[in-house]
Amino acid sequence: MRYAGNNIKLMVDNMMINYTDAGPEEAPVIICIHGFPLNMSMWDKQVSVLIEHFRVITYDIRGHGGSDVGNEAFSIDLFVADLIGFMNVLNLDKVSLCGLSMGGYIALKAIEGFPARFEALVLCDTTCMADSPEAKEKRMKAVESIIQHGVAQYADASIKNFFPQDSFTTSPEIITSVREMIMKTSELSLCSTLLALSSRRETCTKIADIQVPVLILVGSNDVITPLSAATFMHDNITKSTLQVIDHAGHLSNMENPEEFNRHLKLFFNSVYADHLKISQGGDSSILRELRYKLNMLLSFRSI
Ligand code: MLT
Repeated sequence: MRYAGNNIKLMVDNMMINYTDAGPEEAPVIICIHGFPLNMSMWDKQVSVLIEHFRVITYDIRGHGGSDVGNEAFSIDLFVADLIGFMNVLNLDKVSLCGLSMGGYIALKAIEGFPARFEALVLCDTTCMADSPEAKEKRMKAVESIIQHGVAQYADASIKNFFPQDSFTTSPEIITSVREMIMKTSELSLCSTLLALSSRRETCTKIADIQVPVLILVGSNDVITPLSAATFMHDNITKSTLQVIDHAGHLSNMENPEEFNRHLKLFFNSVYADHLKISQGGDSSILRELRYKLNMLLSFRSI
């Protein structure tokens, strides 16, 4: 049985997950996975658009937003187990995933372990690479700083990396909302997740096995997971398309939702063309790719 609405609480393996479920009952399901240290509300501008045709589920990763912390040390593998457990409890056999940054790490690890459960992926501002030794060192320093000085200093440092300098004057409300999300995350969750991120394993050696359509999106000014990381994934995933989102840093979905959503809608409309009856054609991946590219051209011409 489905409960549609906001901030629904669901027990998954003795842990309460907070989620939102919106859109038509019989529609294909898209699960959006947020970045660190944010929560499901970062997808609000995508949900409002996608629910026209799709059932869209956003959830808070354990320790973030309204979900429980649980009793285990955090890891990307644990976050994947939570995702699969969540899908099982909701009786969702096969879905598409849309993950940003840490959400992308989870999506990549999930499809590596459970390829039959996924129909398509959107990988936003993310990478298949593990942390470099310097990045691990930075995470350890961040953990020490949070323990010594609390969350505020960490929140200020994070937003400086998330956003290009000019966004502080052009989009102050987005920056304020992101800072609030970080401030609401407990010190325990921040530190546990930093350790999980620094110990995550790479997924680059497995991405060539991905058989489903993949859309890769990256903000033109993303300094955390830059264009080079997106290009590497695009070069190695057969059925992938890469789009750069202008005027955006690491949180491209929040900074330029118009452009981001246009790519998202075209991608999912093409993945689920049969369901949407957009086309009567066959469903081969080449046709899907061509349909996507044609839609892109038409959408640019109509601007
Ligand atoms: C995120 O947005 O999820 C983080 O930037 C991921 C990371 O720190 O590696």
